[in-house]
Amino acid sequence: MNVHAAALAKGYPFDEATSAFAGDVIGDLGRHPKRLSPKYFYDAAGSELFEQITVLPEYYPTRTELGILRDRGREIAALIPDGAALVEFGAGATTKVRLLLEHCEFGAYVPVDISGDFLNAQADGLRKDFCDLDIHPVAADFTTPFALPEAVAGLPKVGFFPGSTLGNFEPHEAAAFLRSARKILGRRAQMIIGVDLEKDERVLYDAYNDAAGVTARFNLNVLVRINRELGGNFDLSAFTHRSIYNRDHHRIEMHLISRKAQTVRILGNSFAFRPGESIHTENSYKYSLERFTALARGAGWTVRDTWTDAARMFSVHALAASD
Ligand code: AVJ
Repeated sequence: MNVHAAALAKGYPFDEATSAFAGDVIGDLGRHPKRLSPKYFYDAAGSELFEQITVLPEYYPTRTELGILRDRGREIAALIPDGAALVEFGAGATTKVRLLLEHCEFGAYVPVDISGDFLNAQADGLRKDFCDLDIHPVAADFTTPFALPEAVAGLPKVGFFPGSTLGNFEPHEAAAFLRSARKILGRRAQMIIGVDLEKDERVLYDAYNDAAGVTARFNLNVLVRINRELGGNFDLSAFTHRSIYNRDHHRIEMHLISRKAQTVRILGNSFAFRPGESIHTENSYKYSLERFTALARGAGWTVRDTWTDAARMFSVHALAASD
């Protein structure tokens, strides 16, 4: 039995994060159609699988965005006032933020991430290479309002949200996030944001159905996590990965498909599956430049500048608070 299941058996409550995970999983698998939130992909194993995805030949977003940041870093940096605090929403590998830090005199760097351990390891690595940079990690779920550290109160703020993570949100959630980021970053805020673009459907399909099967393992890992942290009994061999492009909604959808009729138990709850029934695990929305501009405008931001790669696969935008 894992630690959490053991704690539960003894009548101890879960820690706060695990309780939220349990509540979401039980609620979302009880719905029709069944779903799970993509934010739960990223435990240690899931984060490692995602790092493997980013270097797959089919997965163009990461290398394309890195190329834009590398080629246009100087231009992007020119828009940012000296001494600003850079606030990164969700802090993955530090490769991307380094490309901004190299060109700017930031007053502080505030990485915000739900995983505190990861943040601290990341901050230690950056402190070695940028020794006079003030780093103030914040352990928080950036999809809900959080407070910035007192130390950056007087500085102008620049948000950084790379990777097209915005694409994981429903359009109304994306607008709400942009509005909330604007509030958190305060007056005269700016934001640098990476957004994946609509393109040939075959290219999109292949990016989420890689030949090596890494994306399939990433998708299935959320079931491994439910089994370990919530004492679930998912049989991994009884579910298959499926990604499709939904043209009407401009999004890649990932699903886990039940191969047979089966019942899964999690924390005393039973969830029945029909053969072929899906758990919808992720949407990855793809934007046109026009639709992204309209989304940003509706959420209180003006697009100051946009950079893309030559093939227009991916976009990076500099936004300014519209007030
Ligand atoms: C991290 C949300 C940008 O949507 O492309 C990669 C996650 N899912 N392969 C994306 C993901 C399947 C990724 N984001």
